[in-house]
Amino acid sequence: MEEKSIQNPFVVGKYLSDRYFCDRSDETEFLRKQILNGRDVALISPRRIGKSGLIQHFFNQPDIKERYYVFFVDIYSTTSLAEFVYTLGKEIYEQLKPKTTIWKEKFFQMIASFRMGFKLDSYTGTPTFDLGLGDIQVPQTTLDEIFAYINEADKTCIIAIDEFQQISEYAEKNVEALLRTKIQHCNKAHFIFSGSKRHLMSNMFNSPAKPFYQSAISMGLNPIPVKVYSDFAIKLFEERDKHVDREVIEDVWTQYDGYTWFVQMIMNELYALTSVNGTCQSPMIAEAQQNVIMSQESIYKDLLANLPPKQKIVLQAIAKEGVARNITSAKFIKKYSLNSASSVQAAVKLLLKNDLLTQTDCGYRIYDFFLSEWLATVY
Ligand SMILES: Nc1ncnc2c1ncn2[C@@H]1O[C@H](COP(=O)(O)OP(=O)(O)OP(=O)(O)O)[C@@H](O)[C@H]1O
Ligand SMILES: [Mg+2]
Repeated sequence: MEEKSIQNPFVVGKYLSDRYFCDRSDETEFLRKQILNGRDVALISPRRIGKSGLIQHFFNQPDIKERYYVFFVDIYSTTSLAEFVYTLGKEIYEQLKPKTTIWKEKFFQMIASFRMGFKLDSYTGTPTFDLGLGDIQVPQTTLDEIFAYINEADKTCIIAIDEFQQISEYAEKNVEALLRTKIQHCNKAHFIFSGSKRHLMSNMFNSPAKPFYQSAISMGLNPIPVKVYSDFAIKLFEERDKHVDREVIEDVWTQYDGYTWFVQMIMNELYALTSVNGTCQSPMIAEAQQNVIMSQESIYKDLLANLPPKQKIVLQAIAKEGVARNITSAKFIKKYSLNSASSVQAAVKLLLKNDLLTQTDCGYRIYDFFLSEWLATVY
């Protein structure tokens, strides 16, 4: 069934199954080992490398699914403890919904703050979670109830909290300490904390003054090796009677430093451009890149429309540079008609905070390679 319904085997943006997921076997094994030994894990890597995918792949392993309840909670867009408990509660409810266990039946009984959200669907008669954010009156109480509920689970849980660094930016100041205490006293769940903001995550787990200090095993994630990815991509073409030159994949991988999302986006388009029995060759790469970048154009236009002019001008300068080294040097400022070193510095700080820029060993670059190309050539 699945085989026939997937039009393009280079799946982007969601996890489907083993079949469309490249490798990560050592990383999956590492996670398995930590969790089986009762250790929590802090997974830290740059954006778009494949953290969320890895966690979902791990959760999809038959032994893990069998042995644990698994919950994947993405808190990227949350800004307060109320949103955190809402998101966590909703994920637990949604995952348990199809199950028939006594533990599930206790959900609304034990989490009293959610009780008003318990409704029966008038057509199907099944319970729904009909709660708004505004219904969370005392978030700390709801948090207590959720953890008390987890501690009653009839199987151990694994709770992955994706984009965990968000909690350090919540309006309330004590969330880290509060959560740490809850997690420490929770004997029915293991945790995977993942995040892409290295300095925030490192600060949370590696500073002695912070509540989560040394509370989890740190794990990084590198790009999938080019040989491994190329074998995977060739197989996906061949299985459907299409062909691809190995150099094409190596070239794409190299242009995007092996960052999985960008590589998969281009391979998806190259696959689409290749006819059945045809062979994907190097000259097609430019067309695929052009198509992908243009497919993102409306997002990029929106983004720029909302960006203050001072940041926009610095962003474009960095795009033209590719990787920008001495951004406060007189040469850089003059070349791109920027204001002053201090205004460049202020803009860069905000661009970093908003995830538009990333800092590498060689300098600053726009983290989204496609946005960078679009800004440098189209805009
Ligand atoms: N091993 C893999 N094989 C195939 N595709 C993958 C693999 N890992 C990730 N991807 C694809 O790459 C994309 C980016 O991966 P993912 O969302 O897991 O990255 P991330 O590190 O969580 O990024 P972000 O920091 O932006 O949340 C996903 O949409 C997924 O489709
Ligand atoms: Mg992610």
